[in-house]
Amino acid sequence: MATLTVDDVTLLGPGCGEQACGETGDGRMLEPEEIVEDLIAFLQPKHLAGKKVLITAGPTFEAIDPVRGITNLSSGKMGFAVARAAREAGAEVTLVCGPVSQPTPRGVTRIDVTGALEMHAAVMVRAAAQDVFVGVAAVADYRPQAAAEHKIKKDGSAAPTITLVQNPDILAEVAALPNPPLCVGFAAESQNLAEYAQKKRLAKKIPLIVGNLIQHGFGGEDNTLVLFDETGQTPLQPGPKSELARTLVSHIARQLDRR
Ligand code: PMT
Repeated sequence: MATLTVDDVTLLGPGCGEQACGETGDGRMLEPEEIVEDLIAFLQPKHLAGKKVLITAGPTFEAIDPVRGITNLSSGKMGFAVARAAREAGAEVTLVCGPVSQPTPRGVTRIDVTGALEMHAAVMVRAAAQDVFVGVAAVADYRPQAAAEHKIKKDGSAAPTITLVQNPDILAEVAALPNPPLCVGFAAESQNLAEYAQKKRLAKKIPLIVGNLIQHGFGGEDNTLVLFDETGQTPLQPGPKSELARTLVSHIARQLDRR
């Protein structure tokens, strides 16, 4: 292995785990899916080599009581695709995600959170050390003021009133850091995509926001994205989230070079 490494040969694996001899540790063949993922990554241009990228993905879940909460239909697929594409491009990637059932992309550090406050804390403690921050998560704007300690019972009286309070705006806070990473937001809208996305970009003081319509963005494998920056808009070819994420990552790398 040392000789091959010196000869500039890339080694995949070995995998770690239970082995035929009964021991546990390094020495397994990688799973076929892992080999495929590593080969695809190997063939991608290394636009982000040596860069640190922090990404949020998925929904947040704001507890009402121990069994109920406010959430949304984000599956995490778009954010995970961006994380995978950034890692393929050579970046050191940290992915902070709300409750989703997506497999962790190879080589990506994953931090699972539940509510927006937890996501905020996980991001803010890491943000200053990053080159790029991409907010793909559909973060709840509001949370119940206090989650009930016990399950709320239907006792025949009036329906309970749930008082909501505003969550911190994670992306805007990262963008307001003294020496912020390159900040990229996402905007999912049901209408007036260009107008609302640009408004969000300006309100959050970020150079780039990626717009998608709700019917395209949420849940599926494919998406239709439009990039909005100070020069206007750039629609991307509709396609699988994996492909769109790679195009977005090369766009981000070019912006990073211009900084
Ligand atoms: O997960 P999928 O099913 O693949 O779906 C992907 C997606 C549709 C969720 C994704 O492509 C997307 O559009 N995410 C952003 C959803 C949205 O509309 O966010 P927003 O308008 O609430 O927020 C705008 C930006 O600010 C986002 O980058 C968001 O992460 C960030 N934000 C918002 C609120 C908040 N409290 N903190 C934030 O950081």
